[in-house]
Amino acid sequence: MKKKHLFIIAGVIGIILAVGVSVYFLMNQKEEIAGPKLTGLSQDEIRIEPFMKLFPNQYEGYLSSEAMANTEFSGSEPKSKFAADMEPLLPILFSGSAFSTQYLEDRGHVYALKDLDESLRVTDKSPGACLQCKSTAVPPLVSKYGEKFWTASLRQEIFPAGEEMHQGAVGCSTCHKPNTMELTVTRPGFIEKMTEIGIDLEHASQKDMKNYVCAQCHVEYYFRGDNGEVTHPWNSGFKAVEGFIYYSSRARQNGFEKDYVSNVSGAPMLKAQHPDYEMYSKSAHAKSGVTCADCHMPKMTKNGKKISSHQMTSPLHDMQGACGKCHKDLDKKKAQVSSIQGEFKTELLDVEAQLAKAHYYVNRMITTGCTPEEIKEAQTQIRFGQWFMDFNAAENSTGFHNPEGAKDNFRIAKNAIKECMSIAEPALIAKDVDLKLLDSQIEQTIANVLNEPDHTKKKLFVNNEWFPSQAPAK
Ligand code: HEC
Ligand code: HEC
Ligand code: HEC
Ligand code: HEC
Repeated sequence: MKKKHLFIIAGVIGIILAVGVSVYFLMNQKEEIAGPKLTGLSQDEIRIEPFMKLFPNQYEGYLSSEAMANTEFSGSEPKSKFAADMEPLLPILFSGSAFSTQYLEDRGHVYALKDLDESLRVTDKSPGACLQCKSTAVPPLVSKYGEKFWTASLRQEIFPAGEEMHQGAVGCSTCHKPNTMELTVTRPGFIEKMTEIGIDLEHASQKDMKNYVCAQCHVEYYFRGDNGEVTHPWNSGFKAVEGFIYYSSRARQNGFEKDYVSNVSGAPMLKAQHPDYEMYSKSAHAKSGVTCADCHMPKMTKNGKKISSHQMTSPLHDMQGACGKCHKDLDKKKAQVSSIQGEFKTELLDVEAQLAKAHYYVNRMITTGCTPEEIKEAQTQIRFGQWFMDFNAAENSTGFHNPEGAKDNFRIAKNAIKECMSIAEPALIAKDVDLKLLDSQIEQTIANVLNEPDHTKKKLFVNNEWFPSQAPAK
């Protein structure tokens, strides 16, 4: 090689090195990195206050999740999902489950413990497992109680023990190693299931961690039948249909069959719980590598430092921050979000109305003595259809996280309801049921539910002399 070439190569390498080193210093001057950085805190620190002096900007951001502001379809006011402009038929669809008593819109992380403590769904029978997605004390509590943590009484034992340990609500140590501030995951059921399905959390990239820290909680789960541990239906995959397959096979093997029995149709039902990560994971954004944190924790400058917003709320409050890094046409994007969510909501309400009717048709099949086979087949379709409706409904973004995936789920739900009705209608006609009369009784019953102003009492109007409760004998 000629001397001249060597000089050029050396020059280029020199320039690259110089640029690299300056960029490195510039970045470290301005930006704190969630990477190895010794804080002087114990690795077992679960309180939130000790982080205040070290990271005042993130700490304040976390506290500001106390703010409550609504958006077109969502928001942070703890509003009832049974309200007229929300999903007023849910008390019927969830009748037989604690979700027919109270179901509120979610709000900021700082409220997680308070809202659990005050929830009308929590009773003296609620297990310690409920604390999984709320408290920083889960790891030490699991160490202390072992397997008993999951089934011990939340109210009598586990919550007070967490308080004694100075637990925080979704605090710093839920996502960061307190001694180094590296991102980490801390929920035992999540770690076990991800490992089981072959996802290496130890060596995950920073980008993947910006999803996994959220996926610890913003996911579908259930309590295992054998030991009550929080676990996730992911062995076949993250889609709604793959979850259903899991619930029909593996979950049964470990003793879990249903979340509740519908008081209306007597069907053994599944209740979906906020599958934000699952829906998102099949979206165009996920495929392009956009993470939860990119939209919900946008980078911002505070007191001269470049930080990630720790408020974690609707990105629609600050689209410039949340979306502006990648999209320039923000007015157009805003309109697109609104139209995606509007279409989704219309479809959701339509499917919920069809489902409510199907539940009542099956109720009438039972009271008019249709065959057990016909009833069971109709119930199977309701269980199937409602799962796909609920997967969309319990997901928190009103369809935005994955508009196409949501459409697929609605399509499957509607087909199942159609199947149910194609069993119910001829069976009822064969029993001389006047379908017009049945429809008007359903209409009146629904009106009674809608007209009850106290949301917690709506469930009392779901059953009546026309539609007696199918609650299983205790
Ligand atoms: C729900 C998970 C979660 C919680 C809770 C959380 N963080 Fe973070 N934190 C993150 C994520 C994600 C990042 C961004 C990492 C990246 O961009 O690479 C981050 C980044 C940081 C950084 C690096 C600088 C920055 O802002 O990007 C610091 C420092 C930090 N967090 C401190 C805290 C403190 C202090 C608390 C408690 C008050 C806290 N975090 C709570 C997830 C969390
Ligand atoms: C330990 C469990 C847990 C983790 C981890 C977690 N969350 Fe949450 N999140 C919750 C709970 C519980 C609520 C509802 C709190 C309430 O309503 O009282 C919530 C609420 C929210 C809300 C609604 C806020 C509002 O204003 O309505 C958003 C947005 C959110 N989380 C985003 C995230 C993101 C993004 C991450 C990851 C960076 C994350 N969460 C990690 C448990 C968690
Ligand atoms: C491309 C941006 C984007 C990504 C990526 C994203 N979200 Fe969202 N998220 C949104 C938008 C937009 C909404 C709708 C907010 C509204 O209607 O006010 C939303 C809504 C939510 C809500 C409900 C907020 C509320 O006000 O009640 C939660 C919780 C949430 N997302 C969690 C997550 C989690 C967890 C992930 C990752 C698995 C994620 N999001 C990924 C944009 C995003
Ligand atoms: C880190 C980059 C990034 C962020 C942040 C981001 N997006 Fe995107 N977004 C993309 C990419 C890339 C695509 C194209 C995906 C594809 O079609 O393959 C996309 C696609 C979309 C689409 C689909 C329609 C279209 O124009 O292709 C909408 C709507 C959208 N984004 C809205 C938002 C909103 C609203 C936010 C903020 C809440 C947001 N995005 C935040 C990168 C981002």
